Amino acid sequence: MSTHTYRPLSILHRIAGGIALLLITTFWVSTVIVELRGNVAEILLVKTAIAYGLLALIPCLMATGASGFRLSGGKKAGLLGVKLRRIKIIAGNGVLCLMPCAISLAVMAQHGRFDVVFAVVQGIELLAGAINIYLIGRNIRDGMRLVRPAGIPAG
Ligand code: HEM
Repeated sequence: MSTHTYRPLSILHRIAGGIALLLITTFWVSTVIVELRGNVAEILLVKTAIAYGLLALIPCLMATGASGFRLSGGKKAGLLGVKLRRIKIIAGNGVLCLMPCAISLAVMAQHGRFDVVFAVVQGIELLAGAINIYLIGRNIRDGMRLVRPAGIPAG
């Protein structure tokens, strides 16, 4: 890939990955705060905002994965293979767990259904969210290792 294409793609990869981490962490922390406060109006607001927030998170993760794949030139050795495996788990977890949880929690909150089912789904969503935060964080750390291999100081 020419340096003309590599540079913008590298910037896109970092920004999209950073925004994805920021969004999912914000969703997680705001959920914990409103659940602890127990104010129904606040829970409704946050759950609804998260369901719409997925519309920003999903394209960010897709852009991060696609740009990462292009930057790697399809290579799967070492850290690249690990990053690739992680993003597959992140995507699967997002589509199969986080999305259905976020949407059903928003619907339940809108109907004032704060029962045991809500609590269980909320617990699953927090767990799946924490796993994705961890995996995205590890991909950022390994991205830094790819750019600045051990022993070579930044800047
Ligand atoms: C959630 C997913 C991912 C996140 C958050 C992420 C994040 C990052 C970050 C922040 C950097 C730059 C580090 C720095 O400048 O110090 C980076 C670099 C890199 N990542 Fe990812 N990454 C992800 C997935 C992937 C995937 C799936 C691949 C492909 C296998 C990949 C390949 C690369 C490559 C090749 C670089 C070096 C780019 C360069 O030279 O600028 N990344 N990543």
